[in-house]
Amino acid sequence: MDHKKSMDYRKKIILAPMVRISTLPMRLLALEYGADIVFCEEIIDYKILSAKRIENNLLGTIDYVLSDETIVFRTHPKERDKLVFQLGTSDPKRAVAAAMKIEKDISAIDVNMGCPKLFSLKGGMGAALLSEPDKAKEILSALVKCLSIPVTCKIRILPTLQETLNFVKLIESTGISAVTIHGRTKEERPQHQNHNDVIKAAAQVLRIPVIANGGSKEITEFADIEKFRKETGASSVMIARAAQWNPSIFRKEGNLPLFEVIRRYIQICIDLDNMFTNTKYCVLQMMHDDMDKEEGIQSQTSATMAQLSEIWDMKGYYEAVNTKRQILKKEMERKMNS
Ligand code: FNR
Repeated sequence: MDHKKSMDYRKKIILAPMVRISTLPMRLLALEYGADIVFCEEIIDYKILSAKRIENNLLGTIDYVLSDETIVFRTHPKERDKLVFQLGTSDPKRAVAAAMKIEKDISAIDVNMGCPKLFSLKGGMGAALLSEPDKAKEILSALVKCLSIPVTCKIRILPTLQETLNFVKLIESTGISAVTIHGRTKEERPQHQNHNDVIKAAAQVLRIPVIANGGSKEITEFADIEKFRKETGASSVMIARAAQWNPSIFRKEGNLPLFEVIRRYIQICIDLDNMFTNTKYCVLQMMHDDMDKEEGIQSQTSATMAQLSEIWDMKGYYEAVNTKRQILKKEMERKMNS
């Protein structure tokens, strides 16, 4: 259909949706280092439906905020053309309502059909949809029909090759633009080998682009990404844990030293007034192998953004940005009241 927007999912390197990791600062950092497309963390349809859309002029962001002021989703114009919003849903009507509410602020919608957590399964979301092909088809068909942006889906493999092939062919028939396949079943854990051969077989039978996922254990440098793509015969690659540990994995010039990456991450968090608890969580994830180092121990015990900034030699920057922001805020309030 002519009025539909499109997105090119071929030859792309993509930041995966990761709860608490793939929030705005990490997405912007991944893009800065060379990621082509970024997914936000999974957000449940109910939350978007109960949030209010606010244009945050102080930060230049668009925020979806709950009545208790929790920010459900924050985005910035810089990522507008590369941002895929991942939806958690178990119901076509709710999925469409949530997606339509947010579609003008994003480039595409992805439905999570891979999450094996009890919370998702109990709600009939995530990997529960792999055992409910009719429901999965209904949700995707409704989204494709009602939205002006591309719809995709992220799945895990099923217990047998044939079941996986049947499932991907079924969802392809809904008109989705691409499918991400994490090459593990919902029972398998990250330490299990990723089934690259199953992704390859799926890529061979599908016409839409397949995005291969699950390769982080073997991805420690940029060249490994293309190796994983070739092994899976996929069009593109999505990276989760390797990016969580060092987002500069997206740099074709090579990884940057971790401490440099963490400082840049904190700088972006300061610029965007990112929530302290989220900033600290992501820093600790990046430090995972280095937690015994002084910066790791101190970061673990930090309780405020000012403390965390000081540990990473960013205190001056933090104070300068905050002072500027306070002045701007007062100016904006004065204008509004005059
Ligand atoms: C995930 N994963 C995930 N998947 C998803 O579809 N939506 C989500 O919100 C999350 N959240 C999430 C959080 C964290 C901390 C991790 C480590 C993972 C799964 C992730 O996107 C990916 O499918 C797997 O991690 C396998 O890919 P890698 O890590 O081998 O590249």
